Amino acid sequence: MGLLKDLEWRYATKKMNGEKIPQEKLDYILEAARLPPSSSGLQQYKVIVISDRALLEQIRLVAYDQSQITDCSHLLVFAAWDGYSDERISNVFNYMMDERGLPHETMDGYKQVILDLYERSGQEWQAHHAAKQSYISFAMAIAAAAEQKVDATPIEGFLSEKLDELLNLKGSGYKSTVILPLGYREAEQDWLVNMKKVRTPKEMFITEMTLADASSNVDLPTPMNLDSFAQKAE
Ligand SMILES: Cc1cc2nc3c(=O)[nH]c(=O)nc-3n(C[C@H](O)[C@H](O)[C@H](O)COP(=O)(O)O)c2cc1C
Repeated sequence: MGLLKDLEWRYATKKMNGEKIPQEKLDYILEAARLPPSSSGLQQYKVIVISDRALLEQIRLVAYDQSQITDCSHLLVFAAWDGYSDERISNVFNYMMDERGLPHETMDGYKQVILDLYERSGQEWQAHHAAKQSYISFAMAIAAAAEQKVDATPIEGFLSEKLDELLNLKGSGYKSTVILPLGYREAEQDWLVNMKKVRTPKEMFITEMTLADASSNVDLPTPMNLDSFAQKAE
């Protein structure tokens, strides 16, 4: 069970030693961040890689002085779209159709369905929706780092507005969502390294349900089949 062992091995490293990670390991982790699924395949996020020490010093100041920011090898900043638009979605779908050798119009019906939904939901919802997609990539990067025996600290503890200013994201259409220092643990100075990993017990975490456990009072909508809008290869 390789993945489970790797997830047991990893922990939210509190102290890193400044050692560099090899380029091929960084590339592997970034590829794992690029490959995950995203809602409608829009990949409404990107990853910024920072190893510039002077910039990392400044980022640490907007991240509650967390030492991993400056003691890491590379810092990954996940940044997601701040909203959806016809232009943004069309750009992605057109690229996708070009890559698959299909006409751009193939996705028009589906695009309209999601655009209507997104417009109705408002910009705050849109930014939140895009941010959620970036966390899928973030999780894959964490797992890939563990597989490569690279330490990582998931970090939400930073002032995102300030980080966006610092990284010139303001006005770019992207907002930072979460950050991930990658590097190697300084075990002797890390209070967490030997602590037991504690998780919700399985019997509390996993619930099996059948129809008998479900509510019978829900007014279920008539199903809308999105498959009819999906692109067809023929
Ligand atoms: C989204 C997210 C944000 C987090 N933010 C921070 C953070 O700002 N600083 C930190 O030291 N740890 C942070 N953590 C680490 C968690 O506290 C840690 O993952 C959790 O306690 C479980 O411990 P483990 O990762 O060592 O197994 C964050 C974790 C996640 C998933």
